[in-house]
Amino acid sequence: MYKNIEIAPGTFYVGVNDRSKALFEGLWPLPYGVSYNSYLIVDEKIALVDTADICYGTLFLDKIASVIGDRPIDYLIINHMEPDHSGSIRLIRQTYPDIKIIGNSKTLGMVEGFYGLTDGFEEIKDGSKLNLGNRTLSFHLTPMVHWPETMMTYDETHHILFAGDAFGCFGTLDGAVVDEDLNTDKYWDEMYRYYANIVGKYGAPVQKALNKLAHLKIDMICSTHGPVWKEHRQKAIEIYDKLSRYEGEKGVVIAFASMYGNTEQMAETIAMGIAESGIKNIVIHDVSKSHASDILRDIFKYKALVIGSPTYSNELFPSVQGLVDKIETRDIKHRIFGYFGSFTWAGAAVKKLAHFGEKMKWDVVETPVEIKQGLKDEKYQECLELGRAIAQKLNQE
Ligand code: FEO
Repeated sequence: MYKNIEIAPGTFYVGVNDRSKALFEGLWPLPYGVSYNSYLIVDEKIALVDTADICYGTLFLDKIASVIGDRPIDYLIINHMEPDHSGSIRLIRQTYPDIKIIGNSKTLGMVEGFYGLTDGFEEIKDGSKLNLGNRTLSFHLTPMVHWPETMMTYDETHHILFAGDAFGCFGTLDGAVVDEDLNTDKYWDEMYRYYANIVGKYGAPVQKALNKLAHLKIDMICSTHGPVWKEHRQKAIEIYDKLSRYEGEKGVVIAFASMYGNTEQMAETIAMGIAESGIKNIVIHDVSKSHASDILRDIFKYKALVIGSPTYSNELFPSVQGLVDKIETRDIKHRIFGYFGSFTWAGAAVKKLAHFGEKMKWDVVETPVEIKQGLKDEKYQECLELGRAIAQKLNQE
């Protein structure tokens, strides 16, 4: 009954959309939903590349059957074992008992660990090939993009890269699957957010993977989330390259917390100092209100970061501490950094932010602003100066 979505000769999209999940990985909001992409390659032999979240198991099986009817699937290729893609492995094995599960040594251990399957495996090595009849697939290990077992599968005949999570983004596929048939506007920011939050810690492995794949002719990228990249495949690769090198665009994120508006006024003033110098990309986040995933997206996107915090129980304000921890976890590199803060009777926040900037080995603007209680004229001027100093560093880049 389902319309077959043939994205290339013999390659069918059989993935599903999820519009009901609130938080991806139990952490990241999904304002536009998410797709779990799976691909069926129909040749003399049939191969399924990745599966889908088990919540959509029945729909997933029906979509496969619409393409191949009663023919069995010969191979299940597992590029990535996170359960949003591996969740239907056991169901697939139950439906196609003779299917051979293809993965690397790390994959196969996880198949047993998650799903209790212990046989019917074929272990591949980096560079192994599989002939399906009229096309040959090759396998490329890309560990830590973003799990240890992650790999990519390349259709050497049609130049299609099945990339796992790489080049993926949040957002359902509404009516079409390939980028040239979609309005792609909503996906780009969601690609940044996906990368920053989920892959962000693994810049070096992503660079290694990009270098490894550089010699392949790629006409189409089939990720496990979001559109199939055909028209915009180069843009997707460039975004991943830039993000994994922690290369920020010319712009500033000001992330602050404020209990009664005094620290917020400092943020506003610093922003004016920055804008005065011709910088237009300024994003201000109240970290107690903006979701961390949006703040991290913007921090990955822009070159400069300014953090402001009130002193709270002789510590950073809790929501600022949460953000600082997330940045440190991702080891975000090469940022221009400014900081500011406030206190009522004893200051601690500014000292802690100084320590943070030093620990991150960032290019720190050494003129922080600290206020006691309200913002007075002298400190107002210092905030403007801090903004100007940030802008000057950016303009020198
Ligand atoms: Fe989409 Fe890492 O799973």
